[in-house]
Amino acid sequence: MTMPITEQGSAALRDHLAAEFARTRARSVALTDAIDDGELVCQHSRIMSPLVWDFAHIGNQEELWLVREVGGRDPVRADIDELYDAFKHPRPNRPALPLLDPTETRRYLSEVRSKVLDVLDRTPLEGRRLVEHGFAFGMIVQHEQQHDETMLATHQLRTGPAALHAPPPRPQRSRNLPGEVLVPAGEFTMGTSTEPWALDNERPAYRASTGAYWLDTVPVTNGQYQRFLADGGYDDPRWWSEQGWTHRCEAGLVGPQFWYLDGGSWWRDRFGVAEPVPADEPVVHVCFFEAQAYAAWAGKRLPTEVEWEKAARFDPATGRSRRFPWGDEDPTPAHANLGQRHLQPAPAGSYLAGASPLGVHQLIGDVWEWTSSGFSGYPGFAPFPYREYSEVFFGGDYRMLRGGSFGTDAAACRGTFRNWDHPVRRQIFTGFRCARDAGPGELT
Ligand code: AVJ
Ligand code: FE
Repeated sequence: MTMPITEQGSAALRDHLAAEFARTRARSVALTDAIDDGELVCQHSRIMSPLVWDFAHIGNQEELWLVREVGGRDPVRADIDELYDAFKHPRPNRPALPLLDPTETRRYLSEVRSKVLDVLDRTPLEGRRLVEHGFAFGMIVQHEQQHDETMLATHQLRTGPAALHAPPPRPQRSRNLPGEVLVPAGEFTMGTSTEPWALDNERPAYRASTGAYWLDTVPVTNGQYQRFLADGGYDDPRWWSEQGWTHRCEAGLVGPQFWYLDGGSWWRDRFGVAEPVPADEPVVHVCFFEAQAYAAWAGKRLPTEVEWEKAARFDPATGRSRRFPWGDEDPTPAHANLGQRHLQPAPAGSYLAGASPLGVHQLIGDVWEWTSSGFSGYPGFAPFPYREYSEVFFGGDYRMLRGGSFGTDAAACRGTFRNWDHPVRRQIFTGFRCARDAGPGELT
C-alpha cells in the first residue's frame, strides 16, 4: 500500500526529477567533452566501450523506457535500438558498429531529453507500478549515473591526461580510530521494500542474521597493501585461493593496476598523471583475488555481503536498519566522497559525519568494497522491470561490491545498493576492508 500522492507532492517530485536529469546530464557532457571527438569514437580498452557508445546508449535506454514505455510515444530512432543493446554486441565488437557519431549522438540525446521532460510533465506519477514515486524516471537517472562511472573508468584506462579537473579531497581525519569494531551476532533487516528508487535486486526486505564478527573501521590503505607486497605476498601461493593463484600467474599480476615501481618506490598513474602512491588512501584497482589474498595474509577474510550491509545499516540502539551508515538523510558532501567531486579516494579515517553507530567509516563512497558473496536474488525476488538488469547475472562467477566509490553518484548509491563484477576485474574503483570471526568469549 502506498499513500496517494498529493498534487503538491507530485509537483515537488517532478521538480526533483527534472533537476536530477539536468545535474546528471551535465556530468555525462563533462565526461564526453573532456577529450576530442576522435578519442570518443575509439576504444581505449577491450573491456570498455568507446565513450560515444556509452553516451548514445544512455539516450537509447532513456528513449526505450521513458519516451516509449512510460510516455507511450512514437520512437525517436527505432533503427538504432539494436546497436545500443548491450546483450547484442560484446564490447570488443562495438567500435566497428555503424554507431552515431559524436555530433549525431549529442543531437539524439537532446531530442530524447526534450520529449522526456514533456512526458514527465504530463504523466501521473501513480496508478502504475512503473511510475509510482517516479520509479522509471529514477531508474533512468541511475542508469545514466552508472554509465558515467563506467565512462570515468574508461578515462582512467586511457593514455594521456584529459580535461577532468577536480580538487583533491580535504581530509579531516580521526587519528585515534581503533582498527576494528565488534559487530554483535543476531538478526537485522537486509534489503528494502520501501526505498522508492531501489532496484529489483535490493528487494524485498528480509530478516538476515550473522554471527559476531570484527570488521575493519576503514578500508585497507595503500600503505598496508605495500607491506603485503614487500612481504612477498604476490609470490606466495599460501595467501591465494587456487583460482586466484592461477589468475595471478596467468595475468602476471605484480601489484594494483596502474601502479609501477620507480627507484624502489611505488608510483601510480591516475587519469593520465603520474604521482607517488599516497600511503594513507584506501587501495583501489585490485581484483577480488588480490583482496582475498591480502586478507588471508593479514589473518583475516573478506566480509560477506550480509556482514557488509549489517555494518552499514543496522542501528543497535533501535534495532532498525537505516538507509545509510549515518542515518536516513541523503548523502551530503560531509558524509561521503561520492559524485566525482574528487577523482581519488580520501585518506582512511575521513568523513567522520558518515561513520556508522558502531564506528565503521567510509562504507559509502571512496572505493567500492569487494565482499566474498556471489550474486543471487533475495528471498521473494521478482525481476522488475526487466530481467536483464539483474536476474540474468544471478549465479555467474560475479562477486558483490558494496558502498560506491568517489566515481559513484549519490543517486545510484545507498546502503542497500548492490553492484557486482567478475572476480578478475580491476578497472572499477574497487578496494576492500577485512573482517574476521569473533572468537569465543567475544561473542555478544
Ligand atoms: C550494476 C554497474 C553492474 O554497469 O554493468 C548499466 C549497471 N546495467 N546498464 C553495469 C547497468 C545496465 C551495471 N552494474
Ligand atoms: Fe546500460
